[in-house]
Amino acid sequence: MDTERLLRELSDFLRIPSVSTNPSHDADCRAAAEWVAGELRRVGCRDVQFLASASHPVVWGVGPEVPGAATLLLYGHYDVQPPDPLAEWTTPPFEPAVRGGKLFARGAADDKGQVFCLLKAIEATGGRPPVNFRFLIEGEEEFGSRVLFDLLRREPERTRADAVLIADMAYIAPGWPAVYTALRGICYAEITVRTARSDLHSGEFGGAAPNAHEELARLLGRLKTPDGKIHVPGLYAAVARPTKRELAAWKRLPFKESDFLKRRVQAKALTGLKSYSVLERLWALPTFEIHGITGGFTAEGAKTVIPAEATAKVSLRLVPKQKLKTVERQLAAAVKRLVPRYVEASVRFLHGADPATVRVTHPAFKLLDRAFADVVGRGTVPARAGGSIPVVSALGKGGTPVILTGIGLPDDRLHAPNEKVDLRQLWDGISVFRRFYELLGRDGR
Ligand code: BES
Ligand code: MN
Ligand code: MN
Repeated sequence: MDTERLLRELSDFLRIPSVSTNPSHDADCRAAAEWVAGELRRVGCRDVQFLASASHPVVWGVGPEVPGAATLLLYGHYDVQPPDPLAEWTTPPFEPAVRGGKLFARGAADDKGQVFCLLKAIEATGGRPPVNFRFLIEGEEEFGSRVLFDLLRREPERTRADAVLIADMAYIAPGWPAVYTALRGICYAEITVRTARSDLHSGEFGGAAPNAHEELARLLGRLKTPDGKIHVPGLYAAVARPTKRELAAWKRLPFKESDFLKRRVQAKALTGLKSYSVLERLWALPTFEIHGITGGFTAEGAKTVIPAEATAKVSLRLVPKQKLKTVERQLAAAVKRLVPRYVEASVRFLHGADPATVRVTHPAFKLLDRAFADVVGRGTVPARAGGSIPVVSALGKGGTPVILTGIGLPDDRLHAPNEKVDLRQLWDGISVFRRFYELLGRDGR
């Protein structure tokens, strides 16, 4: 494997700041889409198109025809999360740098590095792909995938394939590749409270006028209490307990709560519903998180003001059986109920996705298991993930098996400063996917 060339090529991709949520990066998102399109042509795609190109385009490709062989749809995303806080990066997020066998850059693991593995694995089969490839590489995954969602509703035939392969996840621990049976959904919202016509002098009015930040803080404090319980009426009604078998399997995974706290979270304590194991809290229970609070005075220096408006960006993660639409209604109702009458509260939904479950019984899962076993010496363990990939449920609609896996490691720091991918994982990943393609090609459909 010419790792020097590969590293150079991946670095070109990583240097493009394709932050989908920020309109000032629209041209960069297009450049990243162009990079993907170029690679698709390089692996012999006859048909490469930008779909839904009024927004960040979905890159569609059809690989060389291989009569009689299975059809495999590869899904991934070229967009990335914002890189801030910038000051915490050791080297800048869009200047890929190798240190200690790891490649640091925004998108190194999520998901450019992994899309790269899927593509270079095709190249590695030697110019004669063993299966019929289809590609859907989108640019709005980190922003809710609305465009691809609408596209797949209009053109469901795009997903016609014998299997879908998604590499946007991680090993469960170093040396332990995983295949995922469930993803959480998400409901992302902005909660705004308004308490007066405009800001007020805090000396003239303080003590008698309502304060938007105070009201917002109280509301947020009521929505989730220190015991970890979320007070959105009805929220837990649809939550299904994992089966006994599943819980027993999770106990055997190489996961220790104390290590998780010490090495990964690196805080003083874990929080959440104490009567559930940490894996249940991460994989099988809904969450409520506050992402940021704006409004009032936050600039340099001091200003004595009573803010009239405050906004919190929040999200809930949803678990199997919960429905986005229901949770949206429940959250809006809870907010209305929890604020005093003199406070105007509104909820604006930014994006969302239903949770997804995947049955890992289709023969293709065995082939992936074999590919990992052959290359890294251990097959895949079934696990769930706490994160979300909005279109997974849509991709599997027609009964097509959706293989959720990945070559990341748990300490890759997705969405955070100093995101990285281990070079070893990249090179192994290319070999694993190549092996998988070959096995799938040999076994036919
Ligand atoms: N690759 C992640 C999803 C993921 C993360 C799966 C960790 C398993 C473990 C994906 O790019 C992601 O971050 N998704 C967003 C979706 C959202 C913005 C709609 C997420 O989960 O926050
Ligand atoms: Mn991702
Ligand atoms: Mn992500």
